[in-house]
Amino acid sequence: MIQLPISIDNCIVRSYRHYDGQSLVKYANNPRVAGMLRDMFPNPYTLANAEAWLYFVEHQPVEAYFAIVMQDECIGGIGLNLQGDVSRMTAEIGFWLGEPFWGQGIATEAVRALLKYGFETINLNRIQANIFESNQATRCVLKKTGFIKEGRLRKSVVKNGQIMDQLIYAILRQDYDENAPPAPCNP
Ligand SMILES: CC(C)(COP(=O)(O)OP(=O)(O)OC[C@H]1O[C@@H](n2cnc3c(N)ncnc32)[C@H](O)[C@@H]1OP(=O)(O)O)[C@@H](O)C(=O)NCCC(=O)NCCS
Repeated sequence: MIQLPISIDNCIVRSYRHYDGQSLVKYANNPRVAGMLRDMFPNPYTLANAEAWLYFVEHQPVEAYFAIVMQDECIGGIGLNLQGDVSRMTAEIGFWLGEPFWGQGIATEAVRALLKYGFETINLNRIQANIFESNQATRCVLKKTGFIKEGRLRKSVVKNGQIMDQLIYAILRQDYDENAPPAPCNP
């Protein structure tokens, strides 16, 4: 069981536990959360979806998906989707947080914890994020944690019937500084 540091009161990033299913449903079952994520994050989000997710996570060869936890409730998730073949030193980061907890800096601290884990523990060279252009909060989190905007994939996704651009953000190990102050966020 891995527990990563996070500096928000009562909040940790830790390995998923078998009893996280109920709280996962409580916070993940929200169209405002799912609306910014790929369709593999379902809406509605049922207990069966949560259990399938916990099974998937448990069977990964390298632990790279974690729960964001407050008072032993799973209030969100964050993970590194490890790429293969020639991209095997790259991962795509993804995260979400229950709506009652938005705007408190929790995602920013969770991303900082995962960068440390990705670069120092599992030896990645690059961590990237593909986000919907409309996702202002995530653009802000990525900028604050040192990601650089690298490009735009024009009209590359369709979500809830809307065709949108994606933005590519990335951070390299050589540019990662765990003590860097948060970069200003003006998406
Ligand atoms: C993205 C998400 C995880 C952010 O969580 P969070 O804990 O609220 O994020 P933080 O509080 O660390 O930072 C959010 C920043 O975005 C800013 N922000 C939020 N909404 C914004 C908007 N519409 N326009 C501009 N800035 C915005 C906040 O002001 C904050 O910046 P600040 O700390 O400088 O004030 C959460 O909104 C979420 O789960 N969204 C749905 C799922 C999602 O988009 N996941 C990411 C896809 S990879």
